[in-house]
Formats: sequence, structure tokens, C-alpha cells
Amino acid sequence: MKAAILYETNQPLVIEEVELDPPKKGEVHVKIGAAGVCRSDLHFMHGDAIIQTPAILGHEGAGTVLDVGEGVTSVKPGDDVILSFVPNCGRCPYCLTGRANLCDLHGATSGTLFDGTNRLHIGDQYITPMGKVGCFAQEAVVPETGCILLPKGFPLPQAALIGCSVTTGVGAAMYNAEITPGSTVAVFGVGGVGLNVIQGARLLGASKIIAVDIHQSKLEFASKFGATNTVDASSGDPVAKVKELTDGLGADYTFEVFGSSETVLNAYHSVKKGGQVIIVGIAPVTATAAIDPVSLVRFERTVKGCYYGSARPNIDMPTMVTLYKSGQIDIDGLITREYSLDEINQAYKDIDTTEIGRGVITKF
Ligand code: APR
Ligand code: ZN
Repeated sequence: MKAAILYETNQPLVIEEVELDPPKKGEVHVKIGAAGVCRSDLHFMHGDAIIQTPAILGHEGAGTVLDVGEGVTSVKPGDDVILSFVPNCGRCPYCLTGRANLCDLHGATSGTLFDGTNRLHIGDQYITPMGKVGCFAQEAVVPETGCILLPKGFPLPQAALIGCSVTTGVGAAMYNAEITPGSTVAVFGVGGVGLNVIQGARLLGASKIIAVDIHQSKLEFASKFGATNTVDASSGDPVAKVKELTDGLGADYTFEVFGSSETVLNAYHSVKKGGQVIIVGIAPVTATAAIDPVSLVRFERTVKGCYYGSARPNIDMPTMVTLYKSGQIDIDGLITREYSLDEINQAYKDIDTTEIGRGVITKF
């Protein structure tokens, strides 16, 4: 099957034929139908996040089950599924306490499937699947718990987005922050994930949702998803502007959804006394953010990390499906560009421009 392979950082992905071994016990063989163009993959391409190469990136995916390994009972050939990039073991302390997004076994076997081996190779060269998914490919073999069954006929591009940006963004608002009707919110970085934080905040009744970005086109687009105010961070101090829009107080909740020291600090300094700063973006591995402990104490601020929307993929992705079907969240409007797998390098060039919304690979 064909896949896009990362051999070296800061080099284009290479489209190549790859061998895929059949699914083993507890695994599922999936034909990929859609794969989202998310910034997390770009972090690996730039070397800002580390993965063993060669690797197949792509973690925001959906597809159709081709066949299943021994013991798989929750899905069967022909079923459509969302792929979760944190499939979970169901037995570790995190899984058992409802925090499956932090599964220990998933972390301990990063770079391989749960049994520590891999199904992807070219000859005897094994290839790492990102997040046990690797959906920048025609097919994938994934753990059963990484397959979330879809209702018949659910569109796969929209399903793919639920596999990362929707659940990460809406989840950050719904499951991590404690937004209540009337809350004020500021979102730093309104790309694929940030737009979903905005729609999550809108759904929860936030009275003011301030979108902060460096591109005017993205700010205008954010208004369609519920942003009530916009701040252009490319000119002037965004912290001062957020304060100005919140009666000099700062927002109740600020979300960092880009992944840099600068945006983390901006989000921190824009939150009001007693407020919560929720860090969603993945900063480069070497990044630090110098938060002054005095303001943390005296203003009783809370800084929280939020991974995968603090969601339990197998429970909360079906909720996202329901929210989409009932018209409470918009996923159709998020999808602004479609690409074929062969165009993947162009798709990643576009993410760093003024292009709005989310790109999705729909032809493999
Ligand atoms: N201030 C505010 N916004 C900024 C800044 C800045 N200094 N620099 C960049 N941005 C904006 C970009 O213009 C873009 O609109 O941040 C947005 C990021 O959006 P995407 O590139 O679409 O990234 P996305 O896929 O949404 O991921 C965001 O979440 O899951 C993590 O790894 C992911 O770190 C990444 C983050
Ligand atoms: Zn992602």
C-alpha cells in the first residue's frame, strides 16, 4: 500500500510503497478514508517533537474496517470508524479512573502497537506509526480500542476531524475548563483546534469569546464559529487588548492553542484573578515558559495542561458525533481544503499561511 514517509526532519515526506502485515490479536486493519492536516504532525516534521524515523505521520483519521485480528468483537469488516491516537489499555490506573487519554501502556509502547511490535515495513526496515495510527497512508493496522464505531453513512472527513481537532478543542472547553453560562474566554491561536475551543465555549454559554491570532483571515473565520471579539496579535500587545475587552480584568478562561512559549505567556497574563489557563498546544520539546510564581499565588491563577481535550475517546467521540448530528457543532464549515495523499507536502505548506480552517486528505 502507498504511504507518506518521514525519513528526515525538515525534508519533504516521501510517497512510497509500504508492506503492511495482517492484524494480530486485538488489532484491526482499516482502509483510510480521510486524514486531517494537523499541526501536531508538523511538529514531528520540524523536529519540534520526536519520533523514531522512518515514520508514517497522520493521527486525525477515519476509515473502513477491512478485517480484524483474533478476539476483536467491537467492530467488523465494513464498519466505519474514527481512529483514536490514544488507544487505551483499559487496565492501567489512568484508564481505570476515567482518564483514558493518559493511558500508561499507550505511553510505554509509543512507536509500536501495544505488543511492542510493528506491522509496517519496507523489507526489513520497520516504520513507526504516529500515535498507533499513521493515517497518511492507504491503510493502517490499529488497536481495537483505537477504533470508535460510527453510525452508518457518517461522512469520513468529518469523522476524521473528530479524531483530533474537534475532540481536542471542544473537549478542552467541555471537559477541562469549567466554563459556565456568562463566562469570558480568550483563545490564543484559532486554527483547526482553536476554532473548536471557540465552538465548545459557545456551546457552554460563554458570553464573550475573544479570538486571538496573527492572521486577519483566521480572525474573521473565527467569528463564524462563535468568536464575539477578535484580537490581532501581529500588531500591539494582545494581553492589553484582551484586558481591555474584559473590563480590565482578564478573561475567566484563556486557552493556548498554538504551541509556543510566547503564546503560553500571553494566555497566562490574560487570565483574571482566580481564572484558569488551559494549555492545549504542543510547544517544541525544548521550550520553557517563565511564569512568575508571585502572580500565580497572589492572583490564584490555575495553569492546566489539556491533552486530547481531556476526553475519554471511546465515550466522548460518540458525543461529538451526536453534537454534530444535532447541529450543535459545525464540522462541515471547518473543512476548507481537500487534498490527495500525493499533495501532502503542499497541504503542510498551506498550514503556515493565511489559509483558514482545516485541510483534509480525502484521496488515497
Ligand atoms: N499568537 C496567536 N496565534 C498564533 C500565533 C501567535 N503568536 N502564532 C501562530 N498563531 C496561530 C496561527 O496563525 C494558526 O491560526 O495559531 C494557529 C494554529 O493553528 P493550526 O496551525 O491550524 O494548528 P492546530 O492544528 O490547530 O494545532 C494547534 O494544538 O494539538 C496542538 O500540536 C497542535 O500545537 C498544535 C496546536
Ligand atoms: Zn491533531
